[in-house]
Amino acid sequence: MDNITMRREKRNAPMRKVDRDTIQYHLKLNRKMTEGATLALLPGDPFRVDKIARALNREYRELAWNREYRTALARLDGRPALVTSTGIGGPSTAIAIEELARLTSLIRVGTTGGIRAGIQAGDVVITTGAVRLDGASRDYAPIEYPAVAHPEILQALIESARRQRKRHHIGITASTDTFHPSQERPDTFSGYLIKRIRGATEEWRNLGVLNYEMESSTLLVLASVFGLRAGCVTGVVVSRHRGEKITTGRLRTGEKNAIEVAVAAVGMLIGPPRVKP
Ligand code: URA
Repeated sequence: MDNITMRREKRNAPMRKVDRDTIQYHLKLNRKMTEGATLALLPGDPFRVDKIARALNREYRELAWNREYRTALARLDGRPALVTSTGIGGPSTAIAIEELARLTSLIRVGTTGGIRAGIQAGDVVITTGAVRLDGASRDYAPIEYPAVAHPEILQALIESARRQRKRHHIGITASTDTFHPSQERPDTFSGYLIKRIRGATEEWRNLGVLNYEMESSTLLVLASVFGLRAGCVTGVVVSRHRGEKITTGRLRTGEKNAIEVAVAAVGMLIGPPRVKP
């Protein structure tokens, strides 16, 4: 039995009482509260949790909110699904994934800055793999280890975007640890960019990278290491190629499109309710 299969078997083993009742340190959830959910949608922003949960089902319930981690439970066709915010960046995302690892499927639903020409605010990016510019994932696997989306999640996200006729792009995302220097923003406070970073955006663009965001590499690496299915869909809120600013209007459109793609993908992944024999 390989490691991933062993970990899956362990996760599926009968639950001990302590597992059902123990409240996790950060997410403040226990197994009982999650009502058998196997999938979680993961925005960064806790204030996006209710928007996503409502899109799954108007009658969602908030389960917990501690620091940046807020979780709601919604039912889609009777099947439970969680929405948990990860906070911004690798370290807080890694904590969320550690505590959600008893689920089987994790999908990041976030916002992003498009860097490739032709990517416009409001478009959706579906990540096939991430350039690991984060630090957290290096504590789980060496840098040679790929950050790749699980094919079943990827397929569901692509199918969902196609069915809804959303403008979407499928490809590689650069996942950074900082919003300002790593993404070469001219408004970093010091106005100074270290040599390693200067010209990075052009380099990534030349290498076919589509966009910048800050959580996908951590999510995809940890999910592969833990034997989970994961994927990432983000709404473009700024086109860095065109030098646009993030405005409330662009933020809302990008966010809405990513949520709509993610929610329809959940329907495909968790399927209709099981018929009792
Ligand atoms: N999130 C990012 O990390 N970068 C952007 O430009 C927009 C959203």
